[in-house]
Amino acid sequence: MSKADAAASGTFELAGRTIHRLGYGAMRVTGEGIWGEPKDREESLRTLRRLPELGVNFIDTADSYGPFVSEELIRETLHPYDGLLIATKGGLTRHGPNVWLPVGRPEYLRQCVLMSIRRLGVERIDLWQLHRIDPKVPQDEQFGVLAEMQKEGLIDQIGLSEVSVAEIKAAQKHFTVATVQNRYNLVDRTSEDVLDFCAQNGLGFIPWYPLAAGGLARPGSVLDTIAKKIGASPSQVALAWVLKRSPVMLPIPGTSKVKHLEENVAAAAIALSDEDFRALDEQGKAAFRKAA
Ligand SMILES: NC(=O)c1ccc[n+]([C@@H]2O[C@H](COP(=O)([O-])OP(=O)(O)OC[C@H]3O[C@@H](n4cnc5c(N)ncnc54)[C@H](OP(=O)(O)O)[C@@H]3O)[C@@H](O)[C@H]2O)c1
Repeated sequence: MSKADAAASGTFELAGRTIHRLGYGAMRVTGEGIWGEPKDREESLRTLRRLPELGVNFIDTADSYGPFVSEELIRETLHPYDGLLIATKGGLTRHGPNVWLPVGRPEYLRQCVLMSIRRLGVERIDLWQLHRIDPKVPQDEQFGVLAEMQKEGLIDQIGLSEVSVAEIKAAQKHFTVATVQNRYNLVDRTSEDVLDFCAQNGLGFIPWYPLAAGGLARPGSVLDTIAKKIGASPSQVALAWVLKRSPVMLPIPGTSKVKHLEENVAAAAIALSDEDFRALDEQGKAAFRKAA
């Protein structure tokens, strides 16, 4: 067996499956500004193909990554997804590189789901996440159509992204919220209350940006000292820290490179001591307060 194995991160039950908690975010297998084809298509394909070999069985994507490119590459490399749980998102439109605009009209959300089903080549989406709640559309209309599509069998589980505890509770009036995907990492603790709510209620918490887009992987970051002490890279320590933070944590580090993927998955086997965990926690909180 390869040295890196996502199984070492522990498991979580989702959509009737047992997934390994350390997953993969497929946003980076696209062009600059998350627009168009990736610069190195072959390397992106190799990265995706390597996922099951490394025990990664939870993959996050969205129709807006590319747009469509990420879902299409996932289908090209991994269909029929034997043992893999593919989570996608919808509800954001794209008008150019780095431009993301929410559209939550029920007929558009329905189109998002139907088109992701077609692109991914599945009968039903394992986990479909509302990428953003559209402030221009009544929340009940957005949540209502998701509940309808779940009843119709188009979606197995429903998740939310970038939401508050109040928004999760509002959605729970319409359907069971399986997961919440909010920005979270050692030095970005804005969603601490949402994480605690998820842990108390058994919802999966998917921290996006777990490496602060590579910022935490750089030498000199707050992680450096402990990383050197335990002989790991800073990005591995960043992932080991989020994994230890809560059993409902399902990190999805993103990369377009096999080497980085292998490095990230190897973090699953790093068991931080309680002392190191607390030291990092304090340093991370201090950095967060300073940046606020
Ligand atoms: N719900 C939302 O609104 C939302 C928003 C953004 C992202 N997401 C999801 O969350 C996932 C993760 O977020 P993210 O990709 O923005 O941030 P991230 O995982 O924190 O960082 C990814 C960046 O770090 C680099 N990187 C990855 N592993 C590395 C390593 N071992 N050493 C050095 N650099 C490394 C990658 O570059 P290389 O490609 O060069 O490795 C990439 O630029 C996305 O893929 C996406 O699925 C969700």
